[in-house]
Amino acid sequence: MNDFLTMAMPKGRIFEEALELLRMAGYSLPSEFEESRKLIIDLEEEKLRFILAKPMDVAVYVEQGVADIGIAGKDVLLEEEPDVYELLDLRISRCHLAVAGLPNTSVNEAAPKIASKYPTVASHYFREQGEQVEIIKLNGSIELAPLIGLAERIVDIVSTGQTLHENGLVEYERISEITSRLIANRASYRLKEGRITEMVRRLASVIPAQA
Ligand code: PRP
Repeated sequence: MNDFLTMAMPKGRIFEEALELLRMAGYSLPSEFEESRKLIIDLEEEKLRFILAKPMDVAVYVEQGVADIGIAGKDVLLEEEPDVYELLDLRISRCHLAVAGLPNTSVNEAAPKIASKYPTVASHYFREQGEQVEIIKLNGSIELAPLIGLAERIVDIVSTGQTLHENGLVEYERISEITSRLIANRASYRLKEGRITEMVRRLASVIPAQA
């Protein structure tokens, strides 16, 4: 396996755009990627092995070195601060991190509750604002929290804005722009620099222009 390059791919909303980008870069990925439930897929001719992981786990596989490279959202990198190289902004899966809540509500409490899948990002943000808050970590459907009185505000990803809109929530502050990044394990980058640089070159030639 050592001559293989192992790439961790995030299943979920980034997945399709990442596959499209790789195909545009000339990697002929079989339809198995979309159609099967396999978690490891090899491309023998390219000497590439793909592992299909949860988006939040991609950086873990890469940091630990079981994957040489990976595609991770900047949101995950900001939250987990993994010790990896960030090689390329792929400019796909564009969205942003924001503070949101019910409209026309002010936060009066001494330490308002903030629900988020991104507790590190949220606590950094509010510390920078000089605001003391209590962070409540949730794993998904964050928009529920203000609706049922668990939290005054949420910190979450906003993409189309549809989830906020359909749940009667509004955005209060924009924290950070998010796109997907190509990341690499530090040791792999030294050992397999030629192959990784080749992938960076191929991907860089097809990434979408700056919006
Ligand atoms: C994300 C995010 C928002 C939603 C935003 O959730 O947490 O809930 O997408 O997208 P929109 O602005 O286009 O509506 P995801 O679908 O990944 O699932 P989750 O709620 O389980 O985190």
